[in-house]
Amino acid sequence: MADFKKSTVYQIYPKSFYDTNDDGIGDLKGVTAKLDYIKDLGVDYIWLTPFFVSPQNDNGYDVEDYYHIDKRYGTMQDFEELAQEAQKRGIRLMLDMVFNHTSTKHQWFQKALSGDEKYKNYYIFKKGKKAGVPPTNWESKFGGNAWEYVEKFDEYYLHLFDVTQADLNWDNEEVRKEMQKIIKFWMKKGVKGFRFDVVNLISKGAFEDDYQGDGRRFYTDGPNIHRYLKELHETTFGTDAEIITVGEMSSTSIENCYEYAGEKSNELSMVFSFHHLKVDFMGNEKWVMVPFDFQKLKHIIFQWQTKMCQHNAWNAVFWCNHDQPRVVSRFGNTEKYWKESAKMLATVIHCLRGTPYIYQGEEIGMTNANFTHISQYKDVESLNHFKILQQKGLSAENAYSILQIHSRDNSRTPIQWTAEKNAGFTKGTPWIEVIKNYTHINVESQINDENSIFNHYKKLIQLRKENNIIAYGDFEALAENHSAIFAYKRTYQGETLLVINNFYGYEVTWDTEMNLSQYQCILSNYAESKIENILTLRPYESIVLKK
Ligand code: GLC
Ligand code: CA
Repeated sequence: MADFKKSTVYQIYPKSFYDTNDDGIGDLKGVTAKLDYIKDLGVDYIWLTPFFVSPQNDNGYDVEDYYHIDKRYGTMQDFEELAQEAQKRGIRLMLDMVFNHTSTKHQWFQKALSGDEKYKNYYIFKKGKKAGVPPTNWESKFGGNAWEYVEKFDEYYLHLFDVTQADLNWDNEEVRKEMQKIIKFWMKKGVKGFRFDVVNLISKGAFEDDYQGDGRRFYTDGPNIHRYLKELHETTFGTDAEIITVGEMSSTSIENCYEYAGEKSNELSMVFSFHHLKVDFMGNEKWVMVPFDFQKLKHIIFQWQTKMCQHNAWNAVFWCNHDQPRVVSRFGNTEKYWKESAKMLATVIHCLRGTPYIYQGEEIGMTNANFTHISQYKDVESLNHFKILQQKGLSAENAYSILQIHSRDNSRTPIQWTAEKNAGFTKGTPWIEVIKNYTHINVESQINDENSIFNHYKKLIQLRKENNIIAYGDFEALAENHSAIFAYKRTYQGETLLVINNFYGYEVTWDTEMNLSQYQCILSNYAESKIENILTLRPYESIVLKK
């Protein structure tokens, strides 16, 4: 059995990872070329975001053909070579299954458009409420109404994301069979992990106007979702105990996650949830500029840790992915305490109860892009919302400030391998600009430096392997109301672990009301940390104590 509780997953966004043929786009061969680096980091799995045939309107999350590799990324032979080389190094592959929708270029959708009833039934076509009025007032996650009119049928199709990403009709058994076939195809190729994109949106409920929100309450964690996941489990990956799965759960509830990721529910191994990353939003509104709410951040993480533990369910734990800004820019410090804060943030996540995910570049403390012109942005969501913000009356300058904080492109810039031109990512012109700070933030300068952020991640991955308490221990929140400390306790078979972090750039004290003399410091982000019962922590100081 795959022990995913001791494992760490490394996420690769191939487009920005490493380019081997100098067309400016990262490719599968580029991943193979860097396997020794990934092996050195010590992770067990790599999750590859979609590299399937796609028009790339949403960078591959708009799949045109689930069985073939997009030429930009290489060939099936490249994939097989990557799989073999990874296996040689004890690294397993996790693929990204985008099953809520397909590209409108997918042959199923094309057949649907040609009037073929079988394939029309693969999607969600509905009549408008009246001429010119879509079936519901639901909003697309990328902006605008979620329905697109097709004149030929005088009907609309649903797209919760881009207009070129048509939602599939999971209530149609034929669709579910197609999805099973795809998973089996990749299982045969030796794939041992699957990530399911926005999978809690696949079961749509009532098609009604939403007068309280954007429509999400009608299709999130929908009526048949658990049945469909159990069916997928039973007919595909559930037959191989070595396979691990993670579901991306959009705006989910914790009660649903007990079931999605419950040890005995036969659905998925674990879940990504995002509530802790909305602490710099205004409610569900992302395109605003507000400082992050530290108390809320702690409260949400503590709640998910405690309750998922009580219900024997498993979290994926993370700060970063290809949809999130860089964490050191978001909750840390990119100037004076860049290194300290990046390490502190890593420790907070990696000692939690759950499987940690590292997003490429996070392990060297990569920062937000800070683009200053719209021509530098590539992401469909960012481009749409830039327009919407200006339609709402914001100046371009204000709209830029918001993009600089929230745009998904912040994390999609090329990996900074070296201090050479284009950060050593490509010899061509990169598809998206390299961040200028590559001259001092890069892989080359960190791998051999004992004190680097990279080596801190390495230690954390190792600690999880060596300490059952990190992998299996129970969770308890500490210092819940402290204004700067993020602390928690893990317990397992008579052992105790204390993870204590100063989340801010100034010195703080905390009376632990514990006798810390029996504890040993097993990790710190300062050369020497002073352990006293009344603790004084320096800026972003982070310590892990064990008894
Ligand atoms: C997920 C992906 C994101 C994509 C969306 C639609 O949230 O992580 O990148 O745009 O689903 O597929
Ligand atoms: Ca390339």
